[in-house]
Amino acid sequence: MMPADSGPWEGLVAAFARIAEAAGYGLIITPTFEDLAVFQRVGASTDVVRKEMYDFKDKGGRHLALRPEVTASVVRAFIQHRPPVPWKSWYAGSNFRYERPQAGRYREFRQVGIEALGSADPDLDVEVVALGWEFYAAVGASRVELLLNSLGDGNCRPAYRSLLLAYLNDHRSELCEEHQGRFEENPLRVLDCKKPACKEAVAGAPRQLDHLCDDCAAHFARVRAGLDSLGIVYTIDTSLVRGLDYYTRTTFEYAGLALDSAQNGLGGGGRYDGLVGAMGGPETPGVGFALGVDRTLLAVQAEGRLESLGEGRQLDAFVVDFAGGDSARDLTARLRAAGFKADRAFDGRSPKAQFKAADRSGARLALVIGPDEAARGQVAIKDLKQSGDQETVAASDVVEEVRQRLGH
Ligand code: HAM
Repeated sequence: MMPADSGPWEGLVAAFARIAEAAGYGLIITPTFEDLAVFQRVGASTDVVRKEMYDFKDKGGRHLALRPEVTASVVRAFIQHRPPVPWKSWYAGSNFRYERPQAGRYREFRQVGIEALGSADPDLDVEVVALGWEFYAAVGASRVELLLNSLGDGNCRPAYRSLLLAYLNDHRSELCEEHQGRFEENPLRVLDCKKPACKEAVAGAPRQLDHLCDDCAAHFARVRAGLDSLGIVYTIDTSLVRGLDYYTRTTFEYAGLALDSAQNGLGGGGRYDGLVGAMGGPETPGVGFALGVDRTLLAVQAEGRLESLGEGRQLDAFVVDFAGGDSARDLTARLRAAGFKADRAFDGRSPKAQFKAADRSGARLALVIGPDEAARGQVAIKDLKQSGDQETVAASDVVEEVRQRLGH
């Protein structure tokens, strides 16, 4: 991504950082590649692990993988460092999955996300879901549908799984080719299958939501009540199982209604109360989400709001100096020290070339020093967004004048 295009990306990550940090989440930076086994724990029967991992042996014979997601790395770091709980972290970075690239689906893609470990409180699920919701609103993605489900836990899932297996056995011949061959290992995967045959065949399948144990039902009711109380609108989707194996209880997805339905998963997550234990740590509940940056940008673009997302990057002032260059050197330094975004031309360019550069830079103000201004110790301030508006001030007052005009 070239600097000219990365403004919205930067705005989006900055908005996420602001929202996560305002809620007490601290930035975690995990390695881009780790031991293959770290990621295998996200699910032996998932496409992410079975088909899509970029794994390789390094010169020391270690079997490594580029991270396909971040949750497993965060859990690995938690087990290694044992921070006090509840432990809340956020992240931003690239992930890698070997999939067929298409619009909204890439082999290297970026996510922002949060993980909260060490509390089973359903109000934490509400906090997590709400932060994602707040993020989409903040970046201008308004056409987002929140899908919500509960996948039960180790107490009620096994009985449900048997029911589902029995149903799928009865309907085996109606399933897609892949699932006719195998579904025993993870029958829930069939509910997530996008092939029309499977979609139709599972329409009448038993639903986990109807078979929750009392604790899971109470947990789900509290999550729903919390979202209702915060005014967050959601749709119950009983077929939402998500593409990773570690989920328990609450699962959710944000669907981008402005995008083609095949790739409209803007982000998603849920509880994973068994993952820390399964990865060799002390039994510790967890909940989190990851939001696809690339897809969110596509959604914001489809809603025509991409430009405003990049506005934070805009230059405040461009110094045009055709009186020798001393002012360009010193004034840009003063402006930057005062917290403004400022730039200038180099190489003693002509006034015309410098004004052109100032226009191209997108700066709000041009600060002009020609021989006359230099002789009088003044700077001409030209508003590049409102043509014709020009004023001359003493060089010593120019930073304050810029502050007054820009209102910061
Ligand atoms: P995920 O659903 O696999 O969940 O990915 C989350 C988001 O990343 C998706 O909704 C999508 O926007 C984006 N994404 C995934 N694959 C691609 C791709 N190939 N190209 C572009 N975007 C993509 C997770 O990764 C879990 N770790 C989420 C989580 C965190 N659950 C609990 N904590």
